[in-house]
Amino acid sequence: MTADSPASADVAHLDIGGETVELPIVRGTEGDDALDIAKLRSQTGYITLDPGYGNTGAATSAITFLDGEQGILRYRGYPIEQLAEQSTFLEVAYLLIWGELPTREELDRFVTEVTHHTLIREEMRHFFDSFPHDAHPMAVLASGTVGMSTFYPDSHEIFDADAVEITINRLIAKLPTLAAWSFKKAIGQPYVYPRNDLGYAANLLNMMFAVPSEAYEVNAQVAEALDLLLILHADHEQNASTSTVRLVGSTHANLYSSISAGISALWGPLHGGANEAVINTLENVVADGGDVKKWVDKAKDPDDPFRLPGFGHRVYKNHDPRATIIKRAAERVLKATGADDELFDVAQRLEEIALSDDYFISRKLYPNVDFYSGLIYRAIGFPKNMFTNCFAIGRLPGWIAQWKEMIESPETKIGRPRQVYSGAQARDYVPIEQR
Ligand code: SDX
Repeated sequence: MTADSPASADVAHLDIGGETVELPIVRGTEGDDALDIAKLRSQTGYITLDPGYGNTGAATSAITFLDGEQGILRYRGYPIEQLAEQSTFLEVAYLLIWGELPTREELDRFVTEVTHHTLIREEMRHFFDSFPHDAHPMAVLASGTVGMSTFYPDSHEIFDADAVEITINRLIAKLPTLAAWSFKKAIGQPYVYPRNDLGYAANLLNMMFAVPSEAYEVNAQVAEALDLLLILHADHEQNASTSTVRLVGSTHANLYSSISAGISALWGPLHGGANEAVINTLENVVADGGDVKKWVDKAKDPDDPFRLPGFGHRVYKNHDPRATIIKRAAERVLKATGADDELFDVAQRLEEIALSDDYFISRKLYPNVDFYSGLIYRAIGFPKNMFTNCFAIGRLPGWIAQWKEMIESPETKIGRPRQVYSGAQARDYVPIEQR
């Protein structure tokens, strides 16, 4: 394979089977450029093979840019550090979905729309009763999300702009209610209805922690920290759950079912479920007498399946910029809530040892978004099994933006990868008596 001088070339040449084929080069505005292999099979009879898609672009996208080597993350060109410092989650959601920062009037309209769709259909109260009390909230959230499509037939009109807009607003408005009610069901407390006088994060906190028998005051610093966490989780280009949303959406299934599939993908401990796994590990280290080095060695042991949750990333081979911001926020929230910081101390010691250990350095393993986020959710009072629900609420606008970009793109076709077959070749059926 030869690519002419990378700076100027528009094509690469592939010599295969005695032929030379031209592969067009697709250039990004920044970051990775790509070889367009759309005609590779028809021209050469070959396909490519890339398990885990570590070298394969599934789409061109204008939503989020990240540079794993430099530790850069931008939503629609805006650095995550500036959005974290100056924006709000609903403003970031608007930016991701509609492509530009909203004017004051656009933002007010969006916030009003979301605020007035936070109720879920009253019949869904019984939906929660069909689950065991200790059902994992991600199972409830995924099924409740696709279940909502049964109340809104317009959600199947995926090419009708008005139907898509109301579906988007309903999803952003109702996911916190679904999440909070799954928690209330789990602890046997009455459901708390959303309130239109509260902001987005404050409403989630109120639905999670208020009880009808006494007044509940949302801690403003805690609401601010939760809003920040939602911003930091809002999108992350073509990660596993987003790619799942795009693939399901490419079949023209409705948006609720695409999002529900994304929630299920996020649940895995290698992905969004890592925040819950981090706290489990920190608690194990404490229970084990605080022997941090023992757990670092365990993570390094090739014969031990244990991997250090919250460390490592497919793309970031430098610090995850979100982890840096979240670590600072964790210190603020622990102070504001007076929560015990024993786990935070263990986390910092784990980070310190790992970042000076050649195993982690040579593999460029750094703390990722999940390493410190669980400490904040825990300090706020969320139970561990609700952490990934919070991640899902944060990632929702990113999933929606990526689905919308995909469904609106004239290039989009149904996603259908090929394979290299490694099984048995043709053979005849053998009657059971002869086996
Ligand atoms: C998220 O894609 C995204 O953008 C995801 C996300 C988002 O915002 O959507 O950023 C959110 O999912 C963050 C990641 C959360 N997951 C975890 O924290 C789980 C722990 N991390 C690992 O499982 C792992 O790092 C992955 C899954 C995150 C990435 O895996 P890769 O890219 O497939 O890398 P790999 O498994 O091939 O690891 C390379 C090497 C291996 O060692 P060797 O075979 O070379 O000897 O690094 C080792 C791995 O064993 N390694 C780890 C490790 N992570 C990788 N060793 C110990 N502890 C770890 N955490």
